[in-house]
Amino acid sequence: MTTQRLAFSIAAVLPVFLAAGLTACVYPQSLANPSPSPSANTALISQGQQLFVANCQVCHGTNATGLIGPNIQGKTATDVTWALQNVAAMSSLSGTITTSDIQALGAYLSSL
Ligand code: HEC
Repeated sequence: MTTQRLAFSIAAVLPVFLAAGLTACVYPQSLANPSPSPSANTALISQGQQLFVANCQVCHGTNATGLIGPNIQGKTATDVTWALQNVAAMSSLSGTITTSDIQALGAYLSSL
C-alpha cells in the first residue's frame, strides 16, 4: 500500500471512530438502556434462563437454537404469550407458566 493510499484509508476510517466516540458521550449507557437497573435486568434474565431450561429446552434446544420447536432466540414476552396460547405442542404449559414467568422468559430470550 502506498503512503497516499494509507493516508486515504485513515482519513476514511477516522470519522467513524470519532462519530462512535461522540455517540458514546452524548448517549451515556443510562439513557441508551432505559431499563430501571442493570442488576434487576440481569436477575430477570437469569430467572428466565432457569425457567427455559426447566420448561422449554426439551423442545427448543440448548440456548433456544431450536430442536423440535424452532429457534426462538430474540423472542419477546409478547411472542411467548402468543405461543403459549396458540402453539398446540405448548398447550400443556399454559397453566404452569405465570405472567411474571413470561416476563423473565422474554427477558432471557431477547438477550440471546
Ligand atoms: C413440547 C414441545 C415444546 C415445548 C415444551 C415448548 N415449545 Fe415453544 N414451540 C414448540 C413448537 C413445535 C413450536 C412451533 C409451532 C409452529 O411453528 O406452528 C413452538 C413455538 C414457539 C414460539 C413461537 C416461535 C415463532 O416462530 O414465533 C415461541 C416464542 C415459543 N415456542 C416459546 C416457548 C417457551 C418460552 C417455552 C417454555 C415455556 C416453550 N416454547 C416450550 C414446541 C414446544
